[in-house]
Amino acid sequence: MTGEECDDCPCEEGAESVQPSIYTDRRAQMEIQRRDIAKLLATVGGLTAVASLTAPLAGLTQVFERGYSGPVYSDGIHLVDGSGERITEDRLAEGEQLTAFPEPRPGIEDAPTLLVRFAEDDFGGDTNMAYTVNGYAAYSKVCTHAGCMVSNREGSTFVCPCHFGKFDPTSGAAVVGGPPGRALPQLPITVTSDGYLVATGDFEGTVGPGGE
Ligand code: FES
Repeated sequence: MTGEECDDCPCEEGAESVQPSIYTDRRAQMEIQRRDIAKLLATVGGLTAVASLTAPLAGLTQVFERGYSGPVYSDGIHLVDGSGERITEDRLAEGEQLTAFPEPRPGIEDAPTLLVRFAEDDFGGDTNMAYTVNGYAAYSKVCTHAGCMVSNREGSTFVCPCHFGKFDPTSGAAVVGGPPGRALPQLPITVTSDGYLVATGDFEGTVGPGGE
């Protein structure tokens, strides 16, 4: 019986050459799986690294999109900060800047605005002085070249991170470097009797790319 079983059974002669090969295949499979998992982890790690690198780049190329084409600001609209707090006249010291927005109201969306304060004597050139108040000037933050946010600064010069367009806020945000073809439009502002910064009209020109 045993002999018969063993005639066809691989556990005697040749058994070693069969069973080890099975284990070898399993080890090989496990090794392949281990490599696959390692590759997968490396890929995931790589994708994570790429994502962490591209996220800020995506932020850099963020383009302002506005579906609403009517007035953004109008007479008496308060400027508010990112938390929605109305901005008081003593909010900034000379040389400081703040991203402001029109106080939200139905039918309007955010319009990022660069609010700056300098000594009044610092302003000149293309600045519309009638649009300034107590050393404050306000400009659209949307680059006139391709619509990126003008979010960097070198000294008193605003710099757009996308193609390094440069604007001088003490001269009406005139272009002083890079590809933009026109200044950031200025916003006429004043201070209310109770000390808040408000617009007296809309931006003096087209916000973002396009326009004259
Ligand atoms: Fe600002 Fe191009 S979008 S320089």
